[in-house]
Amino acid sequence: MRIIIDTDPAMGTLGGDPEDCFAIMLGLNTPGVTVDGITVVQGNVPAEKGYANAYHLLKLLGRDDVPLRRGCLRPMNAERTIQTSWLERRYSPKQITEMIEPEGQHADAVSFLIETVLASPGEITLVTIGPLTNVATAMQRSPEFAGCLKNIVMMGGTAECAGNISPAAEFNYWQDPEAADIVFRSGADLTMVGLDVCHQTHLYPEQVQECAKTGKELAQFVLEATAPWFKVMAGGSGTESLHLYDSLAVAVAIDPGLVTLEDSYVEMEISHGPAQGMSVSHHKPFQRTIFNHPGTNARVALDVDVESFVEIFDERVLGLIAGK
Ligand code: RIB
Ligand code: CA
Repeated sequence: MRIIIDTDPAMGTLGGDPEDCFAIMLGLNTPGVTVDGITVVQGNVPAEKGYANAYHLLKLLGRDDVPLRRGCLRPMNAERTIQTSWLERRYSPKQITEMIEPEGQHADAVSFLIETVLASPGEITLVTIGPLTNVATAMQRSPEFAGCLKNIVMMGGTAECAGNISPAAEFNYWQDPEAADIVFRSGADLTMVGLDVCHQTHLYPEQVQECAKTGKELAQFVLEATAPWFKVMAGGSGTESLHLYDSLAVAVAIDPGLVTLEDSYVEMEISHGPAQGMSVSHHKPFQRTIFNHPGTNARVALDVDVESFVEIFDERVLGLIAGK
């Protein structure tokens, strides 16, 4: 299968959520999967930093043949100051990957998405593991884009549980609610892998430390880059572990059987009120009837086979990091 990963990778920015890079490794190290490209978007970190982090990872993996593009630097609605000031603050954390300025077409992820998808209608699965700014911009610029995708598998939102950035909202949708709204209205084939399932996954620092015993450059980098985030997580929940949100989304794109999916009609809360960025999922048929929804626009994940996911992650990601 062919995938493009749209991502906000922070592994390399100390104190950022490093998890996107595990998801990228999973895509790259799964037999039968071709990663047609990696497109970077604003999110966990500014896209300038995300691009440098992805560039560094691909180099370490010896995979700089994979097309890498930098995309949108700001959310669609620049007046959402709470989101833009979050981003501004993310310029200050220490960067351990070298900053690199993309040249020419390398700075145009949106054109890359449109051109690649339109060149192979019905073949590409887009896995989004960051805010949906690049994707919604591509949809606005090209009316054919949504219909030419095979499907979109998104890490984002919540179906039944509380949010993580606010009580109502999950981070990726909150960081660009207008973009998520455009995607849910696009008519594309959508799967939402939200917090309901992602919060059932964990990675512990000891697992990374074990990989680093091999002394491999990649493993040393992962150890250094993840350590501050494990501390941040421990502060929030008391447990030093991170959730494998984005890796689960990539795994589900490859094998949807890992999760239990329900058809749903999902609407985004795009107001400036306290629930901004919330995904409201009507996966119970009576809810669609009461609210007069015409049908469904997505499948939402409600449960996950954690054991099978862990097996996949251990073999393809931790195995890769440890150099097995
Ligand atoms: O809410 C989880 C999402 O935001 C993930 O994509 C992760 O990278 C994050 O910080
Ligand atoms: Ca992410």
